[in-house]
Amino acid sequence: MTHPDHEKNRAAWNDMVEVHFKHPDYKVKEFLDGWNSLKSIERKDVGDVTGKSLLHLMCQFGMDTLSWARLGAAVTGVDISDNSITRANELKKRAGLEDARFIRSDVLDLIGVIPKKFDIVFQSYGTHCWIADINRWADVIAHHLMPGGIFYIIDDHPIVTIYLTESMTYLDKKPERYRNERDYCDFDYIVEKERVEWQHPLSSIINSLIKAGLVIEQVNEYDKGYYQMEKDWYPDGDYWYPPGGPPRYPLMFSLKARKP
Ligand SMILES: C[S@@+](CC[C@H](N)C(=O)[O-])C[C@H]1O[C@@H](n2cnc3c(N)ncnc32)[C@H](O)[C@@H]1O
Repeated sequence: MTHPDHEKNRAAWNDMVEVHFKHPDYKVKEFLDGWNSLKSIERKDVGDVTGKSLLHLMCQFGMDTLSWARLGAAVTGVDISDNSITRANELKKRAGLEDARFIRSDVLDLIGVIPKKFDIVFQSYGTHCWIADINRWADVIAHHLMPGGIFYIIDDHPIVTIYLTESMTYLDKKPERYRNERDYCDFDYIVEKERVEWQHPLSSIINSLIKAGLVIEQVNEYDKGYYQMEKDWYPDGDYWYPPGGPPRYPLMFSLKARKP
C-alpha cells in the first residue's frame, strides 16, 4: 500500500538524484573508468560475492549495486525514485553491466514484485531514516532471503539524528518534516520539496529483524562518518571525521543477520 509520506520523499528524491548523479563527489566518471564505489567496511563484512545473488535496497542510481556486480554478484537494485532507476539503467549500459536489474518500488511494497529469493540483501548509507514502518521493512528483508542468506546494513547511527536536528529525540515516534533545506552532497543546492524522516533507535532496528525471524550475527558502531557532513570535516580513507577527530558518540553502525 502506497504510503503518502513515502510518495513525498519519492518526489524530493527525483530532484535530488539528478543533482547527485552530476556531482563530482559521487564520482560517476571515476566509476565508469573502473573505480569501485563500495567502502572498505562493507566489502570486508559482506565478503566474497562471486556467483551470489544480491538484492540492493534503496540503491539510488545504482553505483554501489553495479560495484557489487563488478565483484561477481548477480544484482538487483530497488529504489522508490523514478529518476534513480532511469539513471541506474543508464549507468549499467555505460558500464557494460547489462545483466544488472533495477526496479522502481517502495521498499515497503516490494513483496510480490520480485518473485525471487537472494543470497544477500544489502542496504547502505542514508537509508533507514526514510522508512515509516521498520517492522514491515524487516519482513520485506526476511521475505527476500533464501535460507542461510544474509542481510547486511551499514548506515547512520540513529543517535546522529539528535545532533543534526534540534527537535528530535533519540526515541522519537513522530516523523520529522522539513522543506527548503540544503542537500547533503551539494551544499549549494536547496531541496525545495518536503521530506519526511523517521527515527529508529538501534533497539527497534535489531528487534524488527529478530521479529522477522533473522538471527543477528554482528553489530558494530563507528566513530567516523561516511560523508562530509559539514565543510570542515576531514577525510580518512573512505570515511570522514569532524574537526577535532572522533566525536563522543558513534556516527555509523553496521549489522549482519542471517535467515536460518
Ligand atoms: C542516501 S540515498 C542511497 C544511498 C546509497 N548508498 C547511495 O549513496 O547511492 C537514499 C535512497 O533511498 C531511496 N528511498 C527513499 N525512500 C525509499 C523507499 N520508501 N523505498 C525505496 N527507496 C527509497 C531514495 O530514493 C534514495 O535513492
